[in-house]
Amino acid sequence: MKITIGGDLTVHRLGFGTMRLTGPGIWGPPADRGEALRVLRLAVESGVDFIDTADSYGPAVAEELIREALHPYPDGLVIATKAGLVRPGPITGPGPWPRCGRPEYLRQQAELSLRRLGLDRIDLFQLHRVDETVPFDDQIGALAQLRDEGKIRHVGLSGVSVRQLEEAARIVPIVSVQNRFNLADRTSEDVLRYAESHGLAFIPFAPLNTGGLTTGTALTEAARARGVRPAAIALAWLLHRSPALLPIPGTSRTGHLRDNLAAADIRLTSAEIALL
Ligand SMILES: NC(=O)c1ccc[n+]([C@@H]2O[C@H](COP(=O)([O-])OP(=O)(O)OC[C@H]3O[C@@H](n4cnc5c(N)ncnc54)[C@H](OP(=O)(O)O)[C@@H]3O)[C@@H](O)[C@H]2O)c1
Repeated sequence: MKITIGGDLTVHRLGFGTMRLTGPGIWGPPADRGEALRVLRLAVESGVDFIDTADSYGPAVAEELIREALHPYPDGLVIATKAGLVRPGPITGPGPWPRCGRPEYLRQQAELSLRRLGLDRIDLFQLHRVDETVPFDDQIGALAQLRDEGKIRHVGLSGVSVRQLEEAARIVPIVSVQNRFNLADRTSEDVLRYAESHGLAFIPFAPLNTGGLTTGTALTEAARARGVRPAAIALAWLLHRSPALLPIPGTSRTGHLRDNLAAADIRLTSAEIALL
Protein backbone atom coordinates (compact mmCIF):
# COMPACT_ATOMS: atom_id res chain seq x y z
CA MET A 1 0.00 0.00 0.00
CA LYS A 2 1.63 3.21 -1.18
CA ILE A 3 0.82 6.89 -1.35
CA THR A 4 2.32 9.66 -3.46
CA ILE A 5 2.94 12.92 -1.62
CA GLY A 6 3.13 16.15 -3.58
CA GLY A 7 3.15 14.31 -6.91
CA ASP A 8 6.69 12.97 -6.60
CA LEU A 9 7.31 11.25 -3.25
CA THR A 10 5.93 7.71 -3.32
CA VAL A 11 6.20 5.90 0.01
CA HIS A 12 4.62 2.98 1.85
CA ARG A 13 1.56 3.98 3.82
CA LEU A 14 2.94 2.80 7.15
CA GLY A 15 5.61 5.23 8.30
CA PHE A 16 7.48 5.72 11.56
CA GLY A 17 7.35 8.57 14.10
CA THR A 18 10.49 9.42 16.05
CA MET A 19 9.13 11.42 18.99
CA ARG A 20 9.36 8.39 21.31
CA LEU A 21 13.05 7.82 20.60
CA THR A 22 14.16 10.64 22.89
CA GLY A 23 14.58 10.77 26.67
CA PRO A 24 11.76 11.01 29.24
CA GLY A 25 9.43 13.95 28.63
CA ILE A 26 10.59 14.03 24.95
CA TRP A 27 13.74 15.62 26.32
CA GLY A 28 17.40 14.73 26.01
CA PRO A 29 18.99 11.50 24.85
CA PRO A 30 17.22 8.14 25.02
CA ALA A 31 17.82 5.87 28.00
CA ASP A 32 18.96 3.15 25.58
CA ARG A 33 20.71 4.78 22.62
CA GLY A 34 21.62 1.45 21.04
CA GLU A 35 17.97 0.36 20.99
CA ALA A 36 16.88 3.71 19.52
CA LEU A 37 19.38 3.26 16.66
CA ARG A 38 18.28 -0.37 16.19
CA VAL A 39 14.62 0.72 15.98
CA LEU A 40 15.42 3.19 13.19
CA ARG A 41 17.54 0.71 11.25
CA LEU A 42 15.01 -2.10 11.63
CA ALA A 43 12.22 0.18 10.45
CA VAL A 44 14.05 1.02 7.22
CA GLU A 45 15.28 -2.58 6.69
CA SER A 46 11.66 -3.67 7.04
CA GLY A 47 10.54 -1.35 4.25
CA VAL A 48 9.54 1.81 6.10
CA ASP A 49 10.42 4.70 3.80
CA PHE A 50 8.65 7.60 5.51
CA ILE A 51 10.08 8.90 8.80
CA ASP A 52 8.46 11.74 10.71
CA THR A 53 10.51 13.90 13.04
CA ALA A 54 10.76 17.49 14.34
CA ASP A 55 13.39 19.92 15.58
CA SER A 56 11.59 19.95 18.94
CA TYR A 57 11.87 16.20 19.65
CA GLY A 58 14.62 16.16 22.22
CA PRO A 59 15.05 18.98 21.03
CA ALA A 60 17.39 18.05 18.16
CA VAL A 61 17.88 14.53 19.54
CA ALA A 62 15.50 12.69 17.17
CA GLU A 63 17.05 14.28 14.08
CA GLU A 64 20.55 13.47 15.31
CA LEU A 65 19.58 9.84 15.91
CA ILE A 66 18.14 9.57 12.40
CA ARG A 67 21.39 10.77 10.91
CA GLU A 68 23.52 8.51 13.09
CA ALA A 69 21.41 5.45 12.31
CA LEU A 70 20.67 5.95 8.63
CA HIS A 71 23.06 8.37 6.90
CA PRO A 72 23.95 8.01 4.04
CA TYR A 73 20.27 7.57 3.40
CA PRO A 74 18.98 4.84 1.09
CA ASP A 75 17.31 5.98 -2.13
CA GLY A 76 13.65 6.69 -1.66
CA LEU A 77 13.77 7.36 2.08
CA VAL A 78 11.63 10.40 2.86
CA ILE A 79 12.36 12.29 6.08
CA ALA A 80 9.66 14.75 7.09
CA THR A 81 10.54 17.26 9.76
CA LYS A 82 8.80 20.23 11.39
CA ALA A 83 9.39 23.56 13.06
CA GLY A 84 7.24 26.01 14.96
CA LEU A 85 7.30 24.74 18.55
CA VAL A 86 9.90 25.55 21.18
CA ARG A 87 10.91 23.49 24.17
CA PRO A 88 11.59 25.21 27.49
CA GLY A 89 12.14 21.85 29.21
CA PRO A 90 10.91 18.27 29.53
CA ILE A 91 7.18 17.55 29.59
CA THR A 92 6.26 16.52 33.09
CA GLY A 93 2.50 16.60 32.51
CA PRO A 94 0.19 17.64 29.69
CA GLY A 95 2.05 20.97 29.52
CA PRO A 96 1.99 23.08 26.38
CA TRP A 97 4.73 23.26 23.80
CA PRO A 98 4.98 27.03 23.15
CA ARG A 99 4.59 28.09 19.55
CA CYS A 100 6.99 30.25 17.58
CA GLY A 101 6.08 31.01 14.00
CA ARG A 102 8.24 34.05 13.42
CA PRO A 103 9.61 33.79 9.88
CA GLU A 104 13.24 34.23 10.92
CA TYR A 105 12.84 31.46 13.51
CA LEU A 106 11.25 29.02 11.05
CA ARG A 107 14.08 29.78 8.66
CA GLN A 108 16.73 29.18 11.29
CA GLN A 109 15.13 25.89 12.29
CA ALA A 110 15.00 24.70 8.67
CA GLU A 111 18.71 25.47 8.34
CA LEU A 112 19.48 23.60 11.57
CA SER A 113 17.41 20.59 10.49
CA LEU A 114 19.26 20.48 7.17
CA ARG A 115 22.55 20.49 9.07
CA ARG A 116 21.55 17.92 11.68
CA LEU A 117 19.98 15.55 9.17
CA GLY A 118 22.86 15.93 6.71
CA LEU A 119 20.57 16.89 3.84
CA ASP A 120 20.74 19.45 1.03
CA ARG A 121 16.98 19.63 0.88
CA ILE A 122 14.19 18.56 3.21
CA ASP A 123 11.56 16.51 1.34
CA LEU A 124 8.66 17.56 3.56
CA PHE A 125 8.84 20.51 5.96
CA GLN A 126 5.83 20.93 8.20
CA LEU A 127 4.69 23.91 10.24
CA HIS A 128 4.25 22.19 13.61
CA ARG A 129 1.53 24.59 14.78
CA VAL A 130 0.20 27.90 13.58
CA ASP A 131 1.35 30.69 15.93
CA GLU A 132 -1.64 32.96 16.57
CA THR A 133 0.67 35.84 17.57
CA VAL A 134 2.32 36.02 14.13
CA PRO A 135 0.45 36.93 10.91
CA PHE A 136 -0.59 33.66 9.25
CA ASP A 137 0.61 34.76 5.82
CA ASP A 138 4.08 35.53 7.21
CA GLN A 139 4.44 32.00 8.60
CA ILE A 140 3.29 30.32 5.39
CA GLY A 141 5.29 32.88 3.41
CA ALA A 142 8.47 31.78 5.21
CA LEU A 143 7.82 28.19 4.12
CA ALA A 144 7.09 29.33 0.57
CA GLN A 145 10.41 31.17 0.49
CA LEU A 146 12.32 28.11 1.73
CA ARG A 147 10.60 26.12 -1.01
CA ASP A 148 11.48 28.68 -3.68
CA GLU A 149 15.11 28.55 -2.56
CA GLY A 150 15.15 24.74 -2.86
CA LYS A 151 15.85 24.18 0.84
CA ILE A 152 12.63 22.26 1.21
CA ARG A 153 10.81 20.27 -1.46
CA HIS A 154 7.26 20.31 -0.10
CA VAL A 155 5.25 22.10 2.59
CA GLY A 156 2.90 20.45 5.10
CA LEU A 157 0.90 21.76 8.04
CA SER A 158 0.16 20.25 11.43
CA GLY A 159 -2.67 20.77 13.91
CA VAL A 160 -4.79 22.83 11.51
CA SER A 161 -8.37 23.31 10.39
CA VAL A 162 -9.82 23.07 6.89
CA ARG A 163 -9.98 26.87 6.77
CA GLN A 164 -6.28 27.17 7.58
CA LEU A 165 -5.45 24.60 4.89
CA GLU A 166 -7.45 26.61 2.36
CA GLU A 167 -5.83 29.88 3.37
CA ALA A 168 -2.31 28.43 3.25
CA ALA A 169 -2.93 26.90 -0.18
CA ARG A 170 -3.43 30.40 -1.55
CA ILE A 171 0.21 31.12 -0.71
CA VAL A 172 2.04 27.86 -1.41
CA PRO A 173 1.00 24.33 -2.43
CA ILE A 174 0.25 22.29 0.70
CA VAL A 175 0.87 18.57 0.19
CA SER A 176 0.15 17.12 3.62
CA VAL A 177 -1.61 17.66 6.91
CA GLN A 178 -0.64 16.12 10.24
CA ASN A 179 -3.47 16.08 12.79
CA ARG A 180 -4.33 13.73 15.63
CA PHE A 181 -6.52 10.91 14.29
CA ASN A 182 -7.06 7.34 15.43
CA LEU A 183 -9.74 4.78 16.24
CA ALA A 184 -10.58 6.61 19.48
CA ASP A 185 -10.26 10.22 18.24
CA ARG A 186 -11.88 11.08 14.94
CA THR A 187 -12.39 14.79 15.50
CA SER A 188 -10.41 15.64 12.34
CA GLU A 189 -12.84 13.81 10.02
CA ASP A 190 -13.49 17.09 8.15
CA VAL A 191 -9.77 17.58 7.59
CA LEU A 192 -9.48 13.99 6.36
CA ARG A 193 -12.28 14.62 3.84
CA TYR A 194 -10.47 17.77 2.68
CA ALA A 195 -7.22 15.82 2.30
CA GLU A 196 -8.98 13.12 0.28
CA SER A 197 -10.67 15.58 -2.06
CA HIS A 198 -7.58 17.79 -2.56
CA GLY A 199 -4.94 15.06 -2.93
CA LEU A 200 -3.12 15.74 0.36
CA ALA A 201 -1.55 13.04 2.50
CA PHE A 202 -3.16 12.99 5.95
CA ILE A 203 -0.47 11.93 8.44
CA PRO A 204 -2.38 10.96 11.59
CA PHE A 205 -0.29 11.58 14.68
CA ALA A 206 -0.80 9.49 17.81
CA PRO A 207 -2.22 6.67 15.63
CA LEU A 208 -2.16 4.42 18.71
CA ASN A 209 -3.67 7.20 20.81
CA THR A 210 -0.23 7.54 22.46
CA GLY A 211 -0.34 3.91 23.55
CA GLY A 212 -4.02 3.82 24.55
CA LEU A 213 -4.86 1.61 21.57
CA THR A 214 -2.55 -1.22 22.52
CA THR A 215 -5.23 -2.85 24.69
CA GLY A 216 -9.04 -2.90 24.79
CA THR A 217 -11.62 -5.66 24.37
CA ALA A 218 -12.47 -5.28 20.68
CA LEU A 219 -8.84 -4.77 19.65
CA THR A 220 -7.65 -7.68 21.77
CA GLU A 221 -10.38 -9.96 20.41
CA ALA A 222 -9.60 -9.11 16.78
CA ALA A 223 -5.85 -9.38 17.42
CA ARG A 224 -6.09 -12.79 19.09
CA ALA A 225 -8.07 -14.19 16.16
CA ARG A 226 -5.34 -13.09 13.74
CA GLY A 227 -2.33 -13.85 15.94
CA VAL A 228 -1.13 -10.23 16.00
CA ARG A 229 -0.94 -7.56 18.71
CA PRO A 230 -3.84 -5.12 19.32
CA ALA A 231 -1.68 -2.20 18.08
CA ALA A 232 -1.49 -3.82 14.64
CA ILE A 233 -5.29 -3.93 14.45
CA ALA A 234 -5.57 -0.24 15.43
CA LEU A 235 -3.08 0.66 12.68
CA ALA A 236 -4.77 -1.64 10.13
CA TRP A 237 -8.02 0.22 10.86
CA LEU A 238 -6.33 3.50 9.86
CA LEU A 239 -4.89 1.96 6.69
CA HIS A 240 -8.37 0.71 5.84
CA ARG A 241 -10.13 3.96 6.77
CA SER A 242 -8.74 6.02 3.88
CA PRO A 243 -6.06 5.74 1.16
CA ALA A 244 -5.04 9.30 2.13
CA LEU A 245 -3.89 8.19 5.59
CA LEU A 246 -0.18 7.64 6.29
CA PRO A 247 0.12 6.60 9.96
CA ILE A 248 3.39 7.19 11.81
CA PRO A 249 3.29 5.01 14.95
CA GLY A 250 6.10 5.77 17.37
CA THR A 251 8.00 3.36 19.56
CA SER A 252 11.34 3.11 21.31
CA ARG A 253 11.44 -0.70 21.14
CA THR A 254 12.19 -3.10 18.31
CA GLY A 255 9.60 -5.55 19.68
CA HIS A 256 6.82 -2.97 19.44
CA LEU A 257 8.04 -1.90 16.01
CA ARG A 258 7.64 -5.48 14.77
CA ASP A 259 4.14 -5.64 16.29
CA ASN A 260 3.18 -2.43 14.50
CA LEU A 261 4.64 -3.31 11.11
CA ALA A 262 2.38 -6.38 11.02
CA ALA A 263 -0.48 -3.95 10.28
CA ALA A 264 0.69 -3.52 6.69
CA ASP A 265 -0.29 -7.13 5.86
CA ILE A 266 -3.73 -7.05 7.47
CA ARG A 267 -6.88 -6.58 5.40
CA LEU A 268 -9.68 -6.12 7.88
CA THR A 269 -13.01 -7.80 7.13
CA SER A 270 -16.29 -5.91 7.32
CA ALA A 271 -17.13 -7.89 10.49
CA GLU A 272 -13.91 -6.68 12.11
CA ILE A 273 -14.56 -3.09 11.03
CA ALA A 274 -18.03 -3.27 12.54
CA LEU A 275 -16.56 -4.65 15.78
CA LEU A 276 -14.05 -1.81 15.99
N1 LIG B 1 2.36 16.91 14.76
C1 LIG B 1 2.21 16.80 16.05
O1 LIG B 1 1.81 17.73 16.74
C2 LIG B 1 2.54 15.49 16.70
C3 LIG B 1 2.14 15.23 18.03
C4 LIG B 1 2.45 13.98 18.57
C5 LIG B 1 3.13 13.05 17.82
N2 LIG B 1 3.53 13.34 16.53
C6 LIG B 1 4.22 12.34 15.69
O2 LIG B 1 3.42 11.19 15.65
C7 LIG B 1 4.20 10.06 16.05
C8 LIG B 1 3.30 9.07 16.75
O3 LIG B 1 2.67 9.67 17.87
P1 LIG B 1 2.99 9.24 19.36
O4 LIG B 1 4.36 8.62 19.42
O5 LIG B 1 2.69 10.38 20.23
O6 LIG B 1 1.85 8.20 19.71
P2 LIG B 1 1.49 6.72 19.21
O7 LIG B 1 2.28 6.31 18.03
O8 LIG B 1 0.00 6.69 19.11
O9 LIG B 1 1.88 5.84 20.49
C9 LIG B 1 3.19 5.76 20.95
C10 LIG B 1 3.18 5.14 22.32
O10 LIG B 1 2.67 3.82 22.23
C11 LIG B 1 3.62 2.88 22.69
N3 LIG B 1 3.62 1.77 21.71
C12 LIG B 1 3.97 1.83 20.40
N4 LIG B 1 3.80 0.64 19.82
C13 LIG B 1 3.34 -0.20 20.78
C14 LIG B 1 2.99 -1.58 20.79
N5 LIG B 1 3.05 -2.32 19.68
N6 LIG B 1 2.56 -2.12 21.96
C15 LIG B 1 2.47 -1.38 23.09
N7 LIG B 1 2.80 -0.06 23.14
C16 LIG B 1 3.23 0.52 21.99
C17 LIG B 1 4.96 3.58 22.72
O11 LIG B 1 5.74 3.14 23.80
P3 LIG B 1 7.07 2.26 23.56
O12 LIG B 1 8.15 3.22 23.23
O13 LIG B 1 7.27 1.59 24.88
O14 LIG B 1 6.77 1.30 22.46
C18 LIG B 1 4.55 5.03 22.94
O15 LIG B 1 4.44 5.33 24.31
C19 LIG B 1 5.29 10.68 16.93
O16 LIG B 1 6.39 9.82 17.07
C20 LIG B 1 5.60 11.93 16.19
O17 LIG B 1 6.46 11.66 15.09
C21 LIG B 1 3.23 14.54 15.99
